Amino acid sequence: MTEIKVAIIGGGGFMGYAHSLGWALAPITADTGATIRKAVLVEADEDRAKAAAKRLNWDEWSADWREVIARDDIDVVDIVTPPASHAEIAIAALAAGKHVFVEKPITNDLADADLMQDAAEKSSAVSQVGFNYRHAAAISFVKHMLDDGTLGHPLQFRAHYTQDVGALGRVLSGWRAKKGAGGSGVTGDIGSHIIDLASYLVGDIESVTAIIGAKDPAENSAWLSDDQRREGQYLDDAALWMTKFSNGAIGSFAATVYASGRKNRMFFELECTGGTVEFDWNHSDEIKLSLVSDKPDQQGFRTVSLNENHEDYWYPLGGMGSGYIDDAALQLQKFVRAIVEGRAGSPSFADATRTQRVIEAVMRSADSHQWVNVDEVTA
Ligand SMILES: NC(=O)c1ccc[n+]([C@@H]2O[C@H](COP(=O)([O-])OP(=O)(O)OC[C@H]3O[C@@H](n4cnc5c(N)ncnc54)[C@H](O)[C@@H]3O)[C@@H](O)[C@H]2O)c1
Repeated sequence: MTEIKVAIIGGGGFMGYAHSLGWALAPITADTGATIRKAVLVEADEDRAKAAAKRLNWDEWSADWREVIARDDIDVVDIVTPPASHAEIAIAALAAGKHVFVEKPITNDLADADLMQDAAEKSSAVSQVGFNYRHAAAISFVKHMLDDGTLGHPLQFRAHYTQDVGALGRVLSGWRAKKGAGGSGVTGDIGSHIIDLASYLVGDIESVTAIIGAKDPAENSAWLSDDQRREGQYLDDAALWMTKFSNGAIGSFAATVYASGRKNRMFFELECTGGTVEFDWNHSDEIKLSLVSDKPDQQGFRTVSLNENHEDYWYPLGGMGSGYIDDAALQLQKFVRAIVEGRAGSPSFADATRTQRVIEAVMRSADSHQWVNVDEVTA
């Protein structure tokens, strides 16, 4: 069986933890056709690299990602650094012939995303972006019901991604709060996940109209005005946007880090001609389902509890609470299968660049107060 040797760049942070567990779990829970070696953990400095490699069980550590991607014995480069550094590392890794997994958002900057897409398309290596939620077993179940016609044609998608970290005065990592390093703010950070899910389940987003809100951390009052936000170069802490999809469906989206009590709640409802599904990440192994074809005296929502009959649900018993690390492993399993079978990774750099274009459309619409056509957004 092929052995795949992985180097993780930025492995001492939040995603370093999730991916380290994901790489360990991936070959245990499914046969991907390869064994995985957690070969090298790279961090910004030697002490951090050494400590993280030991704690997260990597064979070696390094404080120099360039030296690591130049090594002949590394097959996969897994990039979990902040988004502003994704393009440089990913493009160099692809040029060195490595398969590349990069965390979401693909980058903060559309021009960089275009370069990354171009590099991926010119390379024979496999590349994939870390929109992990689309791989959850519940989402695979919804996707099947769309693909086999059970749900019919998508009509309306409404999604929320809400957290309370801003309300509590917490910032997960310093880079998230800084212009440039943190991209737009919540739209690029958590909003990108619901854009990816919408694109995966419903189809391409054609046009967008948006409003965004930013908070002055010193002021315990409402959102800043647009002028104050621009002058202070504040990132968006909240965003609302509506969309038209290319297939005629419509959508609405909300993202905020000022939702007291919301602990990473990602929620959506999708109404289709044949029925409705509802998903809440805080109940990640359940789907609420109503079908138009239900008997007249049995209409309404039922809760489907994921179990061993659902694809990607790997416990032999339902109700085991599949969660974030299961999801980290699922996306890496699919990436490894793509490498072994010589297929493209999904979501691809092109998919994630399209998501970046939607994020940029949200920002431009919030500034212009106009609808923005996603295809017309250029870097
Ligand atoms: N898919 C998800 O659910 C999810 C969740 C959180 C974060 N993310 C994404 O993962 C990425 C990382 O986020 P995080 O929360 O783990 O950030 P983090 O700040 O916790 O970790 C980033 C790590 O990268 C290291 N680093 C920075 N520059 C480096 C360099 N040049 N060389 C080596 N190491 C370097 C830092 O020292 C830090 O340990 C971001 O793109 C973020 O959007 C995804």
